[in-house]
Order: sequence, then C-alpha cells, then structure tokens
Amino acid sequence: MPDPDDLFTDARLRDALGARPFRFEPQLGSTNDVARQWAIDGAPSGSVVLTEAQNTGRGRFGRIWSAPLGTALLMSMILRPRVTPDRLPRLTMVGAVAVAEILEPLAPGKVSLKWPNDVMLTNRKVAGVLPEAIWQGNTLSAVILGIGLNVRVDFTDTPLADKAISLETVTDTLIDRAVLLNTLLHRIDYWSMRVDESVLLETWRAMLGTLGQRVTVYAAGAGITGQVAGVDDNGALILQDDDGILHHLLAGEVTLRG
Ligand code: BTN
Repeated sequence: MPDPDDLFTDARLRDALGARPFRFEPQLGSTNDVARQWAIDGAPSGSVVLTEAQNTGRGRFGRIWSAPLGTALLMSMILRPRVTPDRLPRLTMVGAVAVAEILEPLAPGKVSLKWPNDVMLTNRKVAGVLPEAIWQGNTLSAVILGIGLNVRVDFTDTPLADKAISLETVTDTLIDRAVLLNTLLHRIDYWSMRVDESVLLETWRAMLGTLGQRVTVYAAGAGITGQVAGVDDNGALILQDDDGILHHLLAGEVTLRG
C-alpha cells in the first residue's frame, strides 16, 4: 500500500491508471507542451502527461503556474473531440466540471466554479483549467486540457494567501493524489463524450458562483462592469452593463465588486 504522501513514480502511476497511456517526468517545462507534441505524434484521446514540477508551467494570461514537489496535480490530457470551433469553450467546462465533481464529496457545499475556468473552494481558487487547441488547417486535431489542482500547496504568507487554497486545507485529511487523479481522469472521460450535450452546460451553469453578482470583467486590456445575467450556450458570460446593454464575453477575468 503506497503512502498517499509519496511522490509520483512511473510504477505508482501505472498502478493507479491501469491501461491508460501516460507519460510522466518528475520535472519538465509545461505538461501542455509535452502533451501537444505527443498529440502531434499521434497519442490517442485520453492519454495524459503528468509531472511533479514544471519549469515553464503556465496559466491564463501568460501567468506562471508552479507548485512545490508533491503538493499538486499538474497534468494535461489529450482529447480528440469532434466539435465545431464554436464549441471549444465547452472543453474548459469539461475540465472545470470534472474537477468540481471530484471535490464536492470531499468538501460538500464548498465547491463552485468561477467563470470561465476556475474551480473554487470556499471562494478561493483550488484549480485552474487551460485548454489549448491543435489545428490541422481548419480541422481540430486535438485539445490539450491542462489542469493544475492544489492538493497541499501551502499558501501561508504568500501573495496568493487570500486568493488560493489547497484541498487538504479544507478536508483536513491526507488526500491520496493518485486516487484523486484517477477519479478526475474518469470524469474527464465521461464529460468529454458529452461535449455537445446540454447536460454539460446545465451542470456547469448550476455550479457557477458568479450568477447575479456585480462584477468587472477585464478582457483585452479593458474592463466592463455590470451584473452577470447568465451564460449562453457557447459558454460566453452575459454581462448587463449599467446602461442595460448585454455583452457576451467569451474570455476575460472576473473580479467581484461590492
Ligand atoms: C489558470 O487558471 O490560469 C489555468 C492554470 C492551468 C495550469 C496547468 S498545470 C498543468 C498544465 N500545464 C501547464 O503549463 N498549465 C496547466
């Protein structure tokens, strides 16, 4: 029986992941980059790249995403969904809903989603999703679904202390990351088969914490303030500004007001 606190190894991951194709490096640049190359080389849908440490791990808006050894799940899954380009935001939903679902039983009532790609625990960010598409001409060849999930990252006395959180801070029990990972991958398998179904959108919508709230959304260097009126079928946030105009925003960063 492995110690749940152990670092990942090939053998431990093989035990946990069964027949799923995976690549593990104790340290690499970004799992998204390794997965991209593997996808170009022909990796099947469902393959996953994992690491314990990223030198050039990235989040949205070019931010750095890293974590001390053994404290997080840092992974990228290769998906080959048959979707039209307007459905691409739904891959973000696949990742976010899958993470939220596996956390909910561990921290009941404390999990929510922050549009478009953050998973929150007690209103602080516990995980982020970074989807990247690979095109062959006009055809979508693969989507790399990058996920970073804080399991036992200690944010005390860091600039992120009031914004980020780790799962174990809330559960107060040791989490076996290999078990968590395997459960997560199965939920991604499940939802990635349902990218075109309304149940994905409905599940995501039901978990969104920002509906009805007054927010500013920053996109392309400008901010729009208003009330979140909903999300449309493509995953765009519908923001009603103070003049009553409805904006459908496909990307941006939400800051709560008041
Ligand atoms: C965000 O919230 O900004 C998205 C963060 C995504 C981070 C993960 S960690 C594993 C994968 N590899 C990367 O370089 N980024 C994603």
